[in-house]
Amino acid sequence: MDTSKVLSGKDTAVAVYASFKNRLDILSKRGIIPGLCVILVGDDPASQIYVKTKSKKLQSLGLRSKNIYLNNDVSQNELIQTINGLNQDSNYHGILVQMPLPSHIDSQLIINSIDSTKDVDGFHPENVGWLSIGEPRFIPCTPKGIMKIFKHYNIELIGKDIVVIGRSNIVGRPMSVLVSSNGEWSNGTCTICHSRTKNLEQYTRNADVVISAIGKPNYLKADMIKKGSIIIDVGINRVEAENDKGYKIIGDVDYNSVIDKVSFITPVPGGVGPMTIAMLVENTIEAAEQNIP
Ligand code: GUN
Repeated sequence: MDTSKVLSGKDTAVAVYASFKNRLDILSKRGIIPGLCVILVGDDPASQIYVKTKSKKLQSLGLRSKNIYLNNDVSQNELIQTINGLNQDSNYHGILVQMPLPSHIDSQLIINSIDSTKDVDGFHPENVGWLSIGEPRFIPCTPKGIMKIFKHYNIELIGKDIVVIGRSNIVGRPMSVLVSSNGEWSNGTCTICHSRTKNLEQYTRNADVVISAIGKPNYLKADMIKKGSIIIDVGINRVEAENDKGYKIIGDVDYNSVIDKVSFITPVPGGVGPMTIAMLVENTIEAAEQNIP
């Protein structure tokens, strides 16, 4: 494998974690341990793994971490009451409600009930607004992590044609805002494509950078991209496999198909995933720093 083309989120995360040390020391001298509480509703196996991975990472860094597990049939009111309790709890600077939520719960209502100064996901309308006017508070973790990868590898986006596939509030939408913003390491020209886009290939074939967040395994192939393009694969797709677990995780991008044509690519696993967790830790530290008197 030509590793010179690989943008490693794992390596970027190591550098990022090292940069947290000083910030954690300063907080510790003031008696502040950044704390994150994650709420998981239901028993989706993939979500359970994400939530456990997050808390393990936080604990390994000496941060305070709590997971609250609620039954799939929990009422909307009960969930809001749990969040209200955490909004008042000074031990937890960050609150994250794992998405997706069961269909009887209005996700936006839940997000709105999180204190916006504890919204480490950056999903609260106030934080979405701050980002969109170019005054970011909390930036959603996956897009923020992707921007850090660009910076770590010295990849400038200025003037580049960037196609984001997917318009979710978690990845696609905030990603499009970040790459097109007027800031250092941004200033790209962004097109958002989605499930209703006609002739998607027409966009991806002309793009300097493709950021794929659609959740379709091995979807993006060599004939859909331009030679020399940069490919960011946000896909975390579980597919059956003949191993102990019975499944493996693959991206949206058919890695073997595109590798000879790209100039850079993020692998799955080891690409965007580790950065999402690193940025959740950073946002939790940021939330705790806001509490310094
Ligand atoms: N589900 C998938 N990604 C995320 C995320 O970044 N935050 C939350 N809260 N739920 C998710």
